[in-house]
Amino acid sequence: MAEQLPIAVLVSGTGTNLQALLDSVHGHEARVAAVASSVPDAPALARAQTAGVPTAVFPRADYPSRAARDEALADWLAAEGARAVVLAGYMELLGEVFLDRFPGAVINVHPSLLPAFPGLAAIEQALAYGVKVFGVTVHFVDAGVDSGPVILQRAVELPDAREPGAVLAALRPLEHELLPEAVRLLARAAIAPDPENPRRMAIRAGEG
Ligand code: GAR
Repeated sequence: MAEQLPIAVLVSGTGTNLQALLDSVHGHEARVAAVASSVPDAPALARAQTAGVPTAVFPRADYPSRAARDEALADWLAAEGARAVVLAGYMELLGEVFLDRFPGAVINVHPSLLPAFPGLAAIEQALAYGVKVFGVTVHFVDAGVDSGPVILQRAVELPDAREPGAVLAALRPLEHELLPEAVRLLARAAIAPDPENPRRMAIRAGEG
């Protein structure tokens, strides 16, 4: 098998997307080399520890600036051998200081069909707007808020949705499929910008 891509996963909460990565791509196309949290007691940390993955916590309040936090975080991830970074429910913005350390190799999962409803509380935003189609986006991270090029998207029709919890329950399986799939594509170097429109990510078909 081809070499495993060492990835870091950044979390802030429950960690079901981290778990999906640990259960599907970890030890196959990729290796989860490190998990870092912005929240000290995030349940995601226990999932990493159970899988024997090194963890660390980088609370924003412990650093004089976001750039200082970004630098410490990038230093630790690099020391653990990460070559790509997956944001899986990471509720902090990352600046250029961080992104420049992992160029073209930071991806995020977001619970809406971007560019609709970026930022916090995406599902609540979508419900308040009254949409009937919800969805999930996996995208490259740039210095904006959920504004980087789209890698994968999937939609689900929920014309009668009212409760954020019910929408999240419908989106969970999509997230848990799309995020590992994007990591597999990254590991295969199968994602490349379309020369005619660098925002559009062309995906090379698998070998079989
Ligand atoms: C996921 O629904 C993810 O899409 C969302 O946080 C949740 C984390 O769940 N991310 C964002 O809203 C980022 N803007 P998890 O901790 O169980 O993986």
